[in-house]
Amino acid sequence: MKDIASETRPLFEARDLTKRFPAPSGLLGPKKQVHAVEGVTFSIRKGEVFGLVGESGSGKTTVGRMLVGLIPPTSGNMVFDGKEIADLPPAKMQPYRRRVQMIFQDPFASLNPRRRVGDLVAEGMEIHRLGNRAEQREEVARLLDLVGLPADAARRFPHEFSGGQRQRIGIARALAVKPDMLVADEPVSALDVSVQAQVLNLLHDLKEKLDLTILFISHDLAVVEHFCDRVAVMYLGHLMELAPRESLFARPRHPYTEALLSAAPVPDPARKRARIVMEGDVPSPIDPPSGCVLRTRCRYATADCAQTRPTMNQVAPGHFKACLRDDIL
Ligand SMILES: Nc1ncnc2c1ncn2[C@@H]1O[C@H](COP(=O)(O)OP(=O)(O)OP(=O)(O)O)[C@@H](O)[C@H]1O
Ligand SMILES: [Mg+2]
Repeated sequence: MKDIASETRPLFEARDLTKRFPAPSGLLGPKKQVHAVEGVTFSIRKGEVFGLVGESGSGKTTVGRMLVGLIPPTSGNMVFDGKEIADLPPAKMQPYRRRVQMIFQDPFASLNPRRRVGDLVAEGMEIHRLGNRAEQREEVARLLDLVGLPADAARRFPHEFSGGQRQRIGIARALAVKPDMLVADEPVSALDVSVQAQVLNLLHDLKEKLDLTILFISHDLAVVEHFCDRVAVMYLGHLMELAPRESLFARPRHPYTEALLSAAPVPDPARKRARIVMEGDVPSPIDPPSGCVLRTRCRYATADCAQTRPTMNQVAPGHFKACLRDDIL
C-alpha cells in the first residue's frame, strides 16, 4: 500500500511486516506457526501520534516489539529515518535502539525492584554511554522534574510509588537516551481512570516539548480518539483500516471497525450507533481463515471473501481499508 496522504517523509515505515512464532509444540504437531502479524504496511510521520488498535491477540504488541528491535520480523521491511533496519545485525542495531524507546503497560514489571529510581532512569544512559556519572546524575534530576516527580524520587525504590508515578518513572527512563520515537504499549491501561488522563496529558506535553513521534498501542477507543492523529485497526495480525482520526471515528469504512466502534461507549449520544455484535469467536492465529481473515465473523461476507485476500485501498483522503466489499459503509 502506498500511503498517498503522507506528504512529508515518514520517520518510520513498515512494509509487509510479518511475524510468525513457532506454535506451542506437541499438541498441534511440529510445523505449525502462530501468524501473529501478517503483511502489515504503514508509515508514521515525524511528530505524529499513530494509534494501533484491535482486540486482544490481534498483534499490536508484536508490531511494537519489532519496531523497537526487541524481536526480528520473520519477513518484511522496516525503514527508520530513511534506513532499512529490519535485517541489521545486532551490533548495527544499537544506535537505532537508542532512537526508539518503549513504554510498557506495567511499568512495575519492567522496573528492577532492587534498583533505586535514579539508577533505573540512568540505565539507558549507561548502556549507550551518554555522559559521565556526574552528568548522568544531573540529567536524572532534570528528567524526574520533567515527568513531574519530586527530586528525592531518585533515592527511592519503585515500590514506594503509585501506579501513575511508576509510569512516570518508565517515561523518564525512556526519555533518558533522547529518543526520536516512543512506542507506548497500553501505557495507561493498568491505571485508574483519574490517573490515566494525567499520564496522557504528560505524554502529550512531552511530545510537543521534545518533538517526539509516538506509536500508541491501545484497545481503548476513547483514549485513541482523544490522543492519536491517525489510527490503524488490526484484526488477527492484519491491518483492516487506516485513517486520520476524525475520518475513522466519523465514518468507519471497514466492517470490523464498524463493529468495534459500535461496541465502544461514546460520550456523545448524538453519535450513538446501533450495537453490531460480531458472531462467533476470533479464529486461531495458528490456522487463520483463507481470503479475508474477518470473513468468518463478518455480516457482509460473500463467497469471494473466502477466496481473495483484500489489500489496502484508499476510500477517502488518507483513509484506507482492506475489504473486498466497496459497496458497503
Ligand atoms: N513469543 C510468542 N510465542 C508465540 N506466540 C506469541 C508470542 N508472542 C505473541 N504471540 C501470539 O501472537 C498473537 C499476537 O499477540 P500480541 O501480544 O501481539 O497481541 P496484542 O494485540 O498485543 O494483544 P493484547 O491486547 O492482549 O496485548 C497472539 O495470538 C499471541 O498469542
Ligand atoms: Mg499487547
